Amino acid sequence: MRRVGRWLIGGVMVAAIGMVASQAQTPPKRPAGAAAAETPSAKQLLGRLLFEDTNLSNPPGQACASCHAAGAAFTDPDRSAPTSKGVRAGLFGDRNAPTAGYMAFSPRFHFDAAEQHFVGGQFWDGRAATLEEQARGPFLNPVEMANTSAAQVVEKVRAAAYAPLFREVFGADALTDADQAFARVAEAIAAFERTPVFSPFSSKYDAVLAGRARLTAQEQRGLKLFEREDKGNCAACHPVARRPDGRGGLGTDFTYDNLGVPKNPANPFYRMSEAHNPAGRGFVDRGLGGVVGRAADYGKFKVPTVRNVELSAPYMHNGYFASLRAVVDFYNTRDVKPRCADEFVVEAEALARGCWPRPEMVANVNADELGNLRLTPQEVDDIVAFMLTLTDGWRGPQRSASR
Ligand code: HEC
Ligand code: HEC
Repeated sequence: MRRVGRWLIGGVMVAAIGMVASQAQTPPKRPAGAAAAETPSAKQLLGRLLFEDTNLSNPPGQACASCHAAGAAFTDPDRSAPTSKGVRAGLFGDRNAPTAGYMAFSPRFHFDAAEQHFVGGQFWDGRAATLEEQARGPFLNPVEMANTSAAQVVEKVRAAAYAPLFREVFGADALTDADQAFARVAEAIAAFERTPVFSPFSSKYDAVLAGRARLTAQEQRGLKLFEREDKGNCAACHPVARRPDGRGGLGTDFTYDNLGVPKNPANPFYRMSEAHNPAGRGFVDRGLGGVVGRAADYGKFKVPTVRNVELSAPYMHNGYFASLRAVVDFYNTRDVKPRCADEFVVEAEALARGCWPRPEMVANVNADELGNLRLTPQEVDDIVAFMLTLTDGWRGPQRSASR
């Protein structure tokens, strides 16, 4: 799969190695309604090189692409822990890495006055309003890429093989002022994240919308259950219906909710030192509420896209669920099964015992749209089968039959 790509941009020859590179050169087939593959602009190309540069952490070794790998639908391919390892040994973040795919469609973080709720932004809790703002975070996060300042990042960009391209895109003195250069780093990365590489709309479901494929009977049943308000009602928050631009839904409406997901005992964050996690086992993720300072939003997290969920395990902000079946089972039986005696019970044990632990955040749990869906085991399987049609890179019936 590894391949060396070369681009000639305004006289600067740049070589880059990687999965993302090979993906963009052979873009997956697109449905008729989707934007045609475009030649990346110099800024987008620069963004790719920055996104993949493992030298930009402190110490070197971790890039954005380490936790958002093209081969894993831009999530963390390392499944040894539910949250991501930082570049420094023994340090872990508190949340599961969501996909960066389709996040170019998330509107700027805002309060919708008509609906009286927050919408859009980046991160599980919306604390970055835009992709540009988001892209500055990981470089300086001590449990991620761990640089101590913007200047430290920019120093490495100055020494990189693509520094001439950086100057070409942003001007001859673009790397002089560290703060300005750091903002440009983020700008270029965001430009790359807005390319079709991150939002290919190339799943079987997209092919179905374009009239190039058909769902199996089970997938079709799953889609109906996914959309029916009196059944799964999943589409209330994860819309998949065709959008006005002709493409399929994004699999999220970018709103925030508390589903009552239990604490994940396997989250390595609970075991981190007091310096990183002062609350220890008492740690509760306040999500959106922690950002906006409203108790009514405690425990709410941004609805993640269901596009590519086949590849994005584990699931939820804390990675509590390992399988899609267990996710749907939880929506179906959260308020039906008895509560487990203990608060810290991993998914497999909860399934075996036939109970669910109490929610991580007891306040604000959504009991209107989920918790007791009355789905049969067959219907749960059907919904899972439908979600598996949302994996990008679908290449035709033979391939999907072998899945
Ligand atoms: C150590 C692993 C790690 C690295 C390195 C990393 N990320 Fe992330 N990324 C995460 C995690 C974990 C989250 C969720 C954090 C949160 O919500 O608090 C996230 C969230 C995001 C999101 C928001 C997605 C959404 O659904 O809101 C985007 C976009 C993103 N990262 C892009 C990047 C970029 C760009 C870089 C490099 C500058 C990067 N990430 C580096 C782990 C990582
Ligand atoms: C009221 C809004 C809402 C409804 C209805 C809803 N979801 Fe979700 N979904 C969310 C939110 C919010 C999260 C993230 C919660 C968290 O991390 O704590 C989520 C997470 C998920 C995830 C995990 C994705 C990932 O990458 O981690 C899957 C899969 C999922 N939902 C599928 C479904 C299915 C299937 C249904 C219908 C049975 C459904 N959802 C109904 C809001 C909703």
